[in-house]
Amino acid sequence: MPKIPEAFNSITPIKDSEHFMVSAFIDHRLDGVIRVISIIKRNNLQPLYCVYCNTVHDCKTVQADVQIHSDHFGFPFHVSDVIYEGKDMENATHVLISTKDSDNNNTEYLPIKNRVSTNTFKFDFTICISSLFGKYNNVLQFAQTMEMYKLLGVQHVVIYNTSCGPDLEKLLKHYETEGVLEIVSWPIDKFLNPSPGWNFQQHKGDIHYYGQLVTLNECIYRHMYQSRYVLLNDIDEIIMPYKHTNLLSLMEDLQSAHPSVNVFIFESHLFPTTQFEDSGKFKRAEWNNIPGVNIMEHIYREPDRKYVFNPAKMIVNPRKVKQTSVHSSLKYNGDTYHVNFDVSRMVHVREPMQGNLTKDQLFVDKRVWDFEQKLIQNVDQALKLSGLLQCEKF
Ligand SMILES: *[C@@H]1O[C@H](CO)[C@@H](O)[C@H](O)[C@H]1NC(C)=O
Ligand SMILES: *[C@@H]1O[C@H](CO)[C@@H](O)[C@H](O)[C@H]1NC(C)=O
Ligand SMILES: *[C@@H]1O[C@H](CO)[C@@H](O)[C@H](O)[C@H]1NC(C)=O
Ligand SMILES: *[C@@H]1O[C@H](CO)[C@@H](O)[C@H](O)[C@H]1NC(C)=O
Repeated sequence: MPKIPEAFNSITPIKDSEHFMVSAFIDHRLDGVIRVISIIKRNNLQPLYCVYCNTVHDCKTVQADVQIHSDHFGFPFHVSDVIYEGKDMENATHVLISTKDSDNNNTEYLPIKNRVSTNTFKFDFTICISSLFGKYNNVLQFAQTMEMYKLLGVQHVVIYNTSCGPDLEKLLKHYETEGVLEIVSWPIDKFLNPSPGWNFQQHKGDIHYYGQLVTLNECIYRHMYQSRYVLLNDIDEIIMPYKHTNLLSLMEDLQSAHPSVNVFIFESHLFPTTQFEDSGKFKRAEWNNIPGVNIMEHIYREPDRKYVFNPAKMIVNPRKVKQTSVHSSLKYNGDTYHVNFDVSRMVHVREPMQGNLTKDQLFVDKRVWDFEQKLIQNVDQALKLSGLLQCEKF
């Protein structure tokens, strides 16, 4: 019996190669083939084989079809689907990728997930936050965004953790205990030199933006049968309904008006952290010592520039997506729909892109304030339970 590593690691080197395997899934849409989300060194791709096993039968070996995603931006390593078609795969429980067509002494198997397809879901909405890295310690914005999303009806958030700052660590542990946050260990920096940027020419490194394209695709498959919809955005971005009180009623309306759509695109709108609202009413004393941005103070929105690419984000039906990029999906069934700005848009609080604009050249957009009472109460509660706020301050 092959053994599955006890402490399952999210990144596993493929023996005798420069590639890595990440997660394995049955793909019921493709007649039950096995799909292994992998990281492939593009210029060094030799034939790959799969050894798949179940508890009853012996292991079998078949050759793989390797599909490197098209959006590699020049980086040497990129997310790929390693796909196996074979006999009697439906009951396979574990798999490994090999460079040899005969069994070797490899014991690093991946468990196979999504073995049963369902159409009842544990969650309506899951957010996939691609990667947390550096000493990221933007605690206040993280807590505000989490609590905002919970008020909008999100039940599950997944974060791929490479590293984070000491205070954020406490907040993450709190949300994990609460049950809303799933933390996937993502030690990409132990295996590769991850790029801090999106373009190889400009930013260098082995792999695009800490492996963001690997984690987004992995997240879609991981939640395919757990979540009705998956949101692919960063923790400083909120996909905000402007005509509905929550995401469920927004998506019900959008989906019934556009039944063939499986990829919904939401425009990004930037709220610069350099512009503060004048009254100061959200400069709350209890947040003075909490590191990070207070999104409630930033209600000025930059005008859209029609000639500049809008880094929009998506809500997708994960069962219809085969490969995704960051701002669009690469392979999917059905249609894409660009959601109207008035109906919903993304509130992205960060440093400005159009830094020379004065307040009167920006738009006032106070949508977050509509949730102020509950939001403040819940943020304070989360900070308190994380040990970041003293109880006697209340
Ligand atoms: C898979 O398992 C099911 C249920 O035990 C069984 O009916 C089926 O024959 C198995 N398929 C193969 C290919 O072994
Ligand atoms: C498997 O391991 C044994 C013992 O270490 C060794 O003798 C054998 O050559 C190995 N087989 C392969 C295919 O690597
Ligand atoms: C995130 O990853 C870092 C580096 O491995 C680790 O030290 C830290 O404990 C992790 N945080 C959480 C909340 O899992
Ligand atoms: C702001 O204006 C200065 C002076 O005109 C210019 O050098 C700079 O690039 C501008 N910055 C931005 C972010 O547009």
